[in-house]
Amino acid sequence: MNKPVVLVAEELSEAGLAVLGADFEVRHTDGADRSQFLPALAGVDALIVRSATQVDAEAIAAAPKLRVVARAGVGLDNVDVDAATKAGVMVVNAPTSNITSAAEQTIALILASARNTAQAHAALKNGEWKRSKYTGVELDEKVIGILGLGKIGQLVAQRLAPFGVELIAYDPYLPPARAAQMGVKLLPLEEVLKQADFITVHLPKSKETVGLIGDRELHQVKPSVRIVNVARGGIVDEGALYAAIKEGRVAGAGLDVFSKEPCTDSPLFELDQVVVTPHLGASTHEAQEKAGTQVARSVKLALAGEFVPDA
Ligand code: MLT
Repeated sequence: MNKPVVLVAEELSEAGLAVLGADFEVRHTDGADRSQFLPALAGVDALIVRSATQVDAEAIAAAPKLRVVARAGVGLDNVDVDAATKAGVMVVNAPTSNITSAAEQTIALILASARNTAQAHAALKNGEWKRSKYTGVELDEKVIGILGLGKIGQLVAQRLAPFGVELIAYDPYLPPARAAQMGVKLLPLEEVLKQADFITVHLPKSKETVGLIGDRELHQVKPSVRIVNVARGGIVDEGALYAAIKEGRVAGAGLDVFSKEPCTDSPLFELDQVVVTPHLGASTHEAQEKAGTQVARSVKLALAGEFVPDA
């Protein structure tokens, strides 16, 4: 009897592949390359992706046998869930697998943008000993504005509290009392923009959040503000951010995500005040192992026709 086919379209941890074991025919493709990816979908029962593969209506139509799409990560913004549901395809993810890693990457970028770590590192490796140029700011007594106090936003708040900061947040879905238990004051977006010395984004990408921090919002912030985005590219409008930094209306930014990825060329890269990483929030051995094993288990259950519990 033919084994069910699982197409792995991005890197999956060894532990995840081990969970799939010998019960399936595991095929690999490059999900970011449409000319490879679309033909590879024929005859596939399950598809495993991370964030670089667009599982849109065209992809789902190219996979008539598909029964489950599994995303080894938190968000689902690169999967057309409506198109999948219409085609009777189950969509699963690993919603807690990388939240600690994402929170830690956020802290890294907040500190890196406060202390010019990356810029000073690059300069010194280039033979330049520049101490005053890279004078930074402390976090102590600063106001940190968290946009989105979900699972990752909450871990970021917990990790920042010992720095002696004041925590404020914008989250239209969380009861203020729940935020207060975490030592965070919920405020309208406008107030967070006005008060924060650092703004960190932890919102999902959706119609409502794309461009949420645009030109108008970046005219309301303190000129000393530093903006960090480890969530999704496009929530902070890149053109508006570039203009705000150029015009001295924003002091700096730490960006892990971009509106189009991979992003290897951006006007933001020209600015010394901007530190960037290539979507590394979830890229730790621990997070990848958790994401890989969680989605592999879900795929096994789904293909066996069994109930798939929340990971
Ligand atoms: C996520 O949504 O969990 C991450 O963006 C996944 C990834 O790094 O590919």
